[in-house]
Amino acid sequence: MKKDIFIFQLFWIVFIVFGCKSVSTNKMTEYKTLNMNNFDTVLEDKRITMHTLSNHNGMQVFITNYGARIVGICVPDKNGTPVDVVLGFKSIGEYIKSPDPYFGPCVGRVCNRIAKGKFTLEGTDYSLVINNGPNHLHGGTKGLHKVVWDFEKFSDTAILLSYLSPDMEEGYPGNLKINVRYSLSEDNALTIEFDASTDKKTPVNLTTHTYFNLSGISDISINNHIMMIYADQYTPVDSTLIPLGTMIPVEGTPLDFRKPKIIGTDLDQKDLQLKYGGGYDHNFVLNKTKKDSLTIAARVFSPVSCVQMEVYTTEPGIQFYGGNFFTGKITGKDGKKVGYRCGFALEPQHFPDSPNQPAFESIVLSPGKSFYSMSKYVFSVKKQSI
Ligand code: GLA
Repeated sequence: MKKDIFIFQLFWIVFIVFGCKSVSTNKMTEYKTLNMNNFDTVLEDKRITMHTLSNHNGMQVFITNYGARIVGICVPDKNGTPVDVVLGFKSIGEYIKSPDPYFGPCVGRVCNRIAKGKFTLEGTDYSLVINNGPNHLHGGTKGLHKVVWDFEKFSDTAILLSYLSPDMEEGYPGNLKINVRYSLSEDNALTIEFDASTDKKTPVNLTTHTYFNLSGISDISINNHIMMIYADQYTPVDSTLIPLGTMIPVEGTPLDFRKPKIIGTDLDQKDLQLKYGGGYDHNFVLNKTKKDSLTIAARVFSPVSCVQMEVYTTEPGIQFYGGNFFTGKITGKDGKKVGYRCGFALEPQHFPDSPNQPAFESIVLSPGKSFYSMSKYVFSVKKQSI
């Protein structure tokens, strides 16, 4: 087993050193896979469309107001050729029908899991839909991901989407007004800002749920990517992926990504946390000296495209999900089947199940206060690995 891992690592190291030498600064050619017309429809009397943000350095971001969703992110690869590093579909119909609804949307009101779909706030018990084993996941059946958002496009590089989630929608109290702003800068950074306000106390934990494959190919595993996560600790979970309520060191565990590591390296280890997650599906406690400061959370690199992505966030945690539930049954926009562990999500957020976890920072938003978070996804091409 050890020998296999060694050969696997050696192969990628050789590939990375020699394969990424041909970095060029060619301007990108136009990206043709996504056609706006395939995203124009009406759902529940609301118009759905797709919008493109683009800069002068060859980056394009495609966004639909169905779930305030990222449909594609195109960046230059090692040859200057555009590569779409986001998994998804060619048409809105496929997004609406997809058995996995989490290709690219904003998720909430409370992302990740709430144990048994229950929480108590100001003496009142609330019950939410159970949609993931015994638990509530990503805000419910429709959540924010299957609703049509309003939008306002400011320029070629910025769009604002808004949604008013009415009192008791998906079982959550209060009318919650949510805005998400996507903006693209000339240095190939996509910034995602959330703000929200409520008229009753309510839990709020918003994130973006994009499946990345930095090689840009739906059936190539992401286990060959090299990743770093800036976290000394993580929140271990039970067999239903609900946190135990503790924060423990990553040191000496497969969750140690403090130094660059090929994602697949430790996946075969006999480890209870990997068993529960079916691989990586865990919240990392980001190293922060100052609460709410924008700091680096993760860095990922594909040895195939030589694209590097850095994630920065004001959030205290990040969920790393390694595509363990992909079964190869869904066809992606490149016509290839989205294979097992062929996409990953890095979801900046407050810790999962916070409403039931006294040791975690509260996610309760009160009237008169506003929720704000900012995350940044920065893309570049590297000659050599991170
Ligand atoms: C999150 C969860 C995973 C999975 C995905 C959606 O990342 O933690 O368990 O539910 O969303 O497939």
